[in-house]
Amino acid sequence: MDVMNDSTVSKIAVLTSGGDSPGMNAAIRGVVRQGLKRGIEVIGCRHGYQGLLSNDYTPLTRESVSNIIHLGGSILTSSRCEEFREPQGREKAFKNCRAQGIDALIVIGGNGSSQGAFLLQKETGMKSIVLPGTIDNDIYGSNWSIGFDTAVNTALESVDRIRDTANAMERIFFVEVMGRHCGNIAIHAGVASGADYVVIPEIPTEIDLLCQEIKQDAQTKHTVLIVVSEGDDFGNAHKISQALFEKTGLKSWVTNLGHVQRGGSPTSRDRFFATATAVAAVNDLAEGKGGTLMGVAQNSLVRVPLEKAANKKKSLDHSFLKLLDLQH
Ligand code: F6P
Repeated sequence: MDVMNDSTVSKIAVLTSGGDSPGMNAAIRGVVRQGLKRGIEVIGCRHGYQGLLSNDYTPLTRESVSNIIHLGGSILTSSRCEEFREPQGREKAFKNCRAQGIDALIVIGGNGSSQGAFLLQKETGMKSIVLPGTIDNDIYGSNWSIGFDTAVNTALESVDRIRDTANAMERIFFVEVMGRHCGNIAIHAGVASGADYVVIPEIPTEIDLLCQEIKQDAQTKHTVLIVVSEGDDFGNAHKISQALFEKTGLKSWVTNLGHVQRGGSPTSRDRFFATATAVAAVNDLAEGKGGTLMGVAQNSLVRVPLEKAANKKKSLDHSFLKLLDLQH
C-alpha cells in the first residue's frame, strides 16, 4: 500500500461521520478558523467517509462557517460508510486524498469513526485526529463528547414534561432515551429529573425485582417514572412495560424520545469544547502530531492514542452508578 512520509501539513480535510450530534458545526467552524490562522487550507468532505471515496468535497472559508455555531446537525452531512470498513475502501480513500493534496484528516464522530481513522492512519500514514462526536458519550478516554450535554438537556426537558402529565393522571411512565451500548444519557437525564428508576445496559435488568418495586411504589406514589436506555439488556422500554403488565397487571405508558435527542441548538458546554478540541487538533496537525482523539477529562483537553480510543470500551463512573440507589 502507498504510504505518506512527509510531515508538513498544508491541506486538511474535515468530515463528520456516524450519527450527527449537536456541536459538530461548532467543531467544523473551529477547525476552519484555526486552519486559516495557521495558513492551512481546510476543505470539507461531505457525507462522512463516503465523501472520501466519491471525492465529494467543498471548500471551507471563514464565510462558509459563519452563523453555524448555534446549529445542530452537520453542514457537511454525515453517514455510516460500510465501504470504509474494508481495507480496500480505506486504500481508495487514501489515494483520493493524495490526488487532492490532502495531508491530514480531522474526523468528527464516534467509536466506528475512530476505528476508521485509526486504521487509515495505521495502514497509510495519513495523519488523523478525531474529535469525539456522538450524543452517547461512550468514547474511551474522554469524559465528554460533542452533543452529549445537549442531548441530556433535551431528554431532561422531555422527562420533566412527562412528569407533569404523569402526576396529573397518576400514571406509570417509561421514557426511553438513546445510548446504544452506553447508559450515560439515561443516568444523567434520570438522576437530573429525579426518575424513580434508571435502566441501563451496563447493569443487567432484574425484571422480576424491578416490576415488584414499581408495584410497591405505585401503591404509595401513584406516579412512577422510569428512564430506560435503548441498549438495556431486557430489550426496550416497551418490553419492560409489557413485562410489568404480565407480572403485576399494572398498565403503564411508554414514550420513546428517539432522534429528538440528536437535534437542536448545542449547549454552551458543547459549543465550547467543540471549539477548544477543534483548535487543539489543528495546532497538533500543524506541529506534525496526529493519531489521537482529542477529548476532555477533568475540564481539560486530553489526547487519547487513537488505538486506545478506537478499541477500548469506556466504563461508567462507579460513583455515578451509586447515584441510582438514591432514586428509589
Ligand atoms: O449516534 C449515536 C446514536 O444516536 C445512538 O444513540 C443510536 O442508537 C444510534 O445513533 C441511532 O442511529 P441511526 O440514526 O443511524 O438509527
